[in-house]
Amino acid sequence: MTTYTIATIEGDGIGPEISSVSLRVLDALRSRFDLKFEFRPAPAGDGCKTRTGEALPPSSLSTIKDSDACLKAPVGDTAAETIVKLRQMLNLYANIRPSKSLPHVPSLRPDIDFVIVRENTECLYRGMEFEFEGGVVALRTITRKASERIAKYAFELAEQRNGPRKVLAVHKSNVLRKSDGLFSQVCREVSLNHTTIGFSEMLVDAAAMNLIRMPETFDVIVTTNMYGDILSDEAAQLVGGLGVAPSANIGESSAIFEPVHGAAPDIAGKGLANPVAMLLTCAMMLEWLSKTRGDAACAGGASAIRSAVNLTLEGGLKTQDLGGASSTSEFGAAVVRHLQG
Ligand code: IPM
Ligand code: MN
Repeated sequence: MTTYTIATIEGDGIGPEISSVSLRVLDALRSRFDLKFEFRPAPAGDGCKTRTGEALPPSSLSTIKDSDACLKAPVGDTAAETIVKLRQMLNLYANIRPSKSLPHVPSLRPDIDFVIVRENTECLYRGMEFEFEGGVVALRTITRKASERIAKYAFELAEQRNGPRKVLAVHKSNVLRKSDGLFSQVCREVSLNHTTIGFSEMLVDAAAMNLIRMPETFDVIVTTNMYGDILSDEAAQLVGGLGVAPSANIGESSAIFEPVHGAAPDIAGKGLANPVAMLLTCAMMLEWLSKTRGDAACAGGASAIRSAVNLTLEGGLKTQDLGGASSTSEFGAAVVRHLQG
C-alpha cells in the first residue's frame, strides 16, 4: 500500500463542504487501489486570518512543502495573500485549466475539449501597485524565462493529447507591443522545437469571442496570467459553469490542486455547492502523482473518480447550479457508492 501525504486547505465559504466530500472520495480509493492518503490540515484563508492573524501561517506553508501534494478549497477575501502568494513562493508556474463537456451537463457544444495553460507567477499578479498623485500605477511583468517555460509546458501537454494537437498563444501584442510582444515572440520560438504540433496566435479579445463562437476548435491555449484567469471562467461556463471546473498549479517538484471557482459565501453552509469541480481536481492531483511518482495506482484512482462522477451525473443527480436538486453531500455519497460498487 502506497501512502501519500496530502496537505489540505479547507478554505472559506463552501470550501469545508466540498473538501469533506473530496476527502471521503479519496478515502474510498483505499481498498480498491491499495492507495492511502494521509491528510494534513494546512489552515489558510479568511477564517485562518481571523483566528491566527495570518492568512498563510508559516506552519501551513511548511506542511504544504513537506507533503506530496496540496489539495486546496477556495478561500475568500484573502486569496491574494494565500493562493497568489503560494503560486509565486513555490514557483507553481503552470496553471492548468481543462474545459471538457461532461455527460448530462449543459454544454454550449457537445464536443468541447480544450485546456488553458495559464502562466501563474507574473503579469499583473505580482501585486506591484503604487499610488501617485491622481491615481495608481500597476506594473505588469512578462519575462522571457517565464514565457519560455509556460510555452514549453503547453507544447509538451499538446504532445500528450489526442485529437488535433495544436497550441494557440493568446495575448494582446497589437497594443502591448513590448510585454505581450515578448510573450508572442517566445511562444513562436518555442513552437519551432515542436514541429508536430500546430501553432497559431490570437488576440485575447478575439479569443474571448471565438470561445463562444466555436469552442470545439480549441485544443491547448497558452496565455499570460490575467488573460488566463478571465478566459478560464468563460471556458468553465461553456461546459456547465464554475461548479464543474477543476485546476492544477504545477511547479518543478510541487503542486497545488484547486477548483477554479471561489468561496461562494452566498451559498455557504446550505448544502448547495457543486462538488464536481473539487472531485475533478482530485482526479487531476492523482494524475499528477501518477506521472511524477510513476504510480499506476494513482492513474487508476483518477479514472475511477472520473467515471464515478460521470455515472452519478448520468444517474440524474445534480446540484442546483446544474438544474438539479441534490445536495453537496448526497452527490458525494453517490460518487462514493459508484467507487465502491
Ligand atoms: C483563480 C482565482 C484567483 C486568481 C483569485 C481568487 C486570486 O480567481 O484561481 O482563478 O485570480 O487567480
Ligand atoms: Mn479566477
